[in-house]
Amino acid sequence: MTIEWRPDERQFHLSNGLISLILRVYEDGSLGQLHLGGALPSGRPYRHLGPDPFAGYANLVGGHVPFVYPTPGIGDFRVPALVAEGADGATALTLRYRDHRITAGKPSLEPLPSTYVEDESEAETLEVTLDDELTGLVVDLRFTIFDGRPLIARSATIRATGAHPIDLRTAMSVVIDLPDTDWVMVGLAGAWAREAHVVERALVPGRQSMASTHGASGAQHNPFLALRRPATDEANGEAYAFSLVYSGNFLAEAEVDQFGATRLRLGIEPDTFSWHLGPGDAFVTPEAIVVYSAAGLQGLSDALHGLFRDRLARGTWRDRPRPILINSWEAAYFDFDADRLVEIATSARELGMELFVLDDGWFGHRDDDTSSLGDWVVDRRKLPDGLDGVARRVTALGMGFGLWIEPEMVSPDSDLFRAHPDWAVGIPGRARTETRQQLVLDMGRPEVVDHLTDVLTDVLASAPISYVKWDMNRTITEPYSLGLTPEAQGEFFHRHILGVYELYRRLTRRFPDILFESCASGGGRFDPGMLAFAPQAWTSDDTDAIERLRIQWGTSLAYPLSSMGAHVSAVPNHQTGRITPLATRAAVAFFGVLGYELDPTVLSAGERAEIGAQVAFYARHRDVFQRGRFIRLESPFGGERDHVSWMSLSPDGATAIVGVYQILNRPTPEARRLRLRALEASAVYQVSGWPVSDDPMIAANTGLRTGAELMAAGLLLDRDRHYAETLGDFWARLFVLERVETPRG
Ligand code: GLA
Repeated sequence: MTIEWRPDERQFHLSNGLISLILRVYEDGSLGQLHLGGALPSGRPYRHLGPDPFAGYANLVGGHVPFVYPTPGIGDFRVPALVAEGADGATALTLRYRDHRITAGKPSLEPLPSTYVEDESEAETLEVTLDDELTGLVVDLRFTIFDGRPLIARSATIRATGAHPIDLRTAMSVVIDLPDTDWVMVGLAGAWAREAHVVERALVPGRQSMASTHGASGAQHNPFLALRRPATDEANGEAYAFSLVYSGNFLAEAEVDQFGATRLRLGIEPDTFSWHLGPGDAFVTPEAIVVYSAAGLQGLSDALHGLFRDRLARGTWRDRPRPILINSWEAAYFDFDADRLVEIATSARELGMELFVLDDGWFGHRDDDTSSLGDWVVDRRKLPDGLDGVARRVTALGMGFGLWIEPEMVSPDSDLFRAHPDWAVGIPGRARTETRQQLVLDMGRPEVVDHLTDVLTDVLASAPISYVKWDMNRTITEPYSLGLTPEAQGEFFHRHILGVYELYRRLTRRFPDILFESCASGGGRFDPGMLAFAPQAWTSDDTDAIERLRIQWGTSLAYPLSSMGAHVSAVPNHQTGRITPLATRAAVAFFGVLGYELDPTVLSAGERAEIGAQVAFYARHRDVFQRGRFIRLESPFGGERDHVSWMSLSPDGATAIVGVYQILNRPTPEARRLRLRALEASAVYQVSGWPVSDDPMIAANTGLRTGAELMAAGLLLDRDRHYAETLGDFWARLFVLERVETPRG
């Protein structure tokens, strides 16, 4: 890993053998980007890769000029990185190189979340300072390159150093100019209960984007975007990923210009943003991660998973095995008392579950979703001995006790709202739009964050709580803060999310042993910003196994297994009404952090035996399921797809588990082999199947197989016609590969 500065060419080269980023200070002092992609040799000049010379657009007839942090009004008509209005109302800016620093390690962006290093030798950071002479606007651009990771972390600090204030209208985290347009844009889109569906489109001239203006990153689009070559697939070909470490409104946009080049930008959504910089003030953008892969989408996912799991998530729970939980929500909803909860916990404990989570309904007088958010006081009608009483009964069973909270919200029917109606987000004189009968607290106001810190500290200290599910169940409407002047209302959304981060920071620091799981009506805020505080997230409210195939597949593009909460629930499924076999529900939920979201006290003896065996199986292979290398094999997206499969390889490579899923069953099945990936060709694996050993498909694959055979010939998934007739829809099989011989030499 090196960052090289060649003063003669005025060229920077960040490289680690996996990725190269080459920048050059052009003749007019602007900072250009000559290359971002496959690693190039260091110690060489690359100025010929860009316009040479480039002394500004004056009298320039045309051509592609790649910039690092482009500004409008001076000849570049593509989407800008930075739009700032000076005292004269003009927005044109000429950012010129002033100086730079190269340092070991990586600086923190606090109060924003960001990736980090544990040792300075893990990364190097280049900071380039650009300035606009007329306005005194200064931009510090940071580029961090990590040892052994094919990615660059980017952020910027924008400072007003002149005598006059400056108003930021757009402040992107990263802009990347690529020299052609032969790309397919890959995004994650969806809605409540069907998050993270993979959507793809070939780039066309003009602008195409994914974004959120909901006040959170949102279920609609994820702050993630990839570009792949048309021929790139999971395992082969070039691709880039762009990921924003941020939980608020964002924009990820690609623009194809008149010269056949592509500009990609990622950052805070500009239409819902502005920021006032008084003289001496600074604004820091969220961090963006840019990944390059020559090994297909797998290369992107491997890089993001490793970074997010090991150098974004933090705290006690980052590396620890995560407990198998039972959640009370779909078991009891709002209808429970202490005895009922203990009954559920006892029954779950008998099945091997390790953590009982008390979901919504334990506070105020919350018998349904019309009241009490904000009143974080235990409901003694339901829990006469308080949280402590019920938590102690649960922990006495040998389980952890977890609790649901939704800190950022307030119900109009709550003591908190009656005492502080002005703490709810809203515009004076304008009716507030309610969603799920609730309003959003103004997290940009320090007194609100202080209040929540106090009351939630009391709650979390009041009982032996080892897990918190932190929910957030609505979007923001009528955005306005009484804590801001009318001129500063453009700062509302960013200040709001900074307040959320501050509360997260305080509570996670105060309670380092609590495992936090974020949630926003499921995956409505499943983003890297949240992962910096909560190492796992509730992937979706949708627990239907078939829907989850798509949701977990899509989520896995960017996020590691250790971050994905996945639960087995009852049938008919509460979101789709679909009936799937219990084994299939488990075979999908295993790939992530397993939980159960059902009433274990109403199960039949057969179901109890099955679930007990599932929990034991998962516990035995927890490392594969939670920390394994996730490899996507057959996609549930695109066309008529009834076959879905994926696998996970344990960190030590000794065990792999393959999940094979059938959506609708078909008569007269076609010949089918499933070729695996990422095994050691010369290793021999003992293959066994799950859940049943006398199944013909499992029997056909049971035995010793070489990695070479499993990758080149594959698992045999042929089905005899008569056997296929017995399978029905929605079946699943797992294949467990245990390495029995390690390769020699
Ligand atoms: C949200 C969550 C659910 C559950 C309910 C409780 O919808 O996503 O898992 O916690 O709130 O009200």
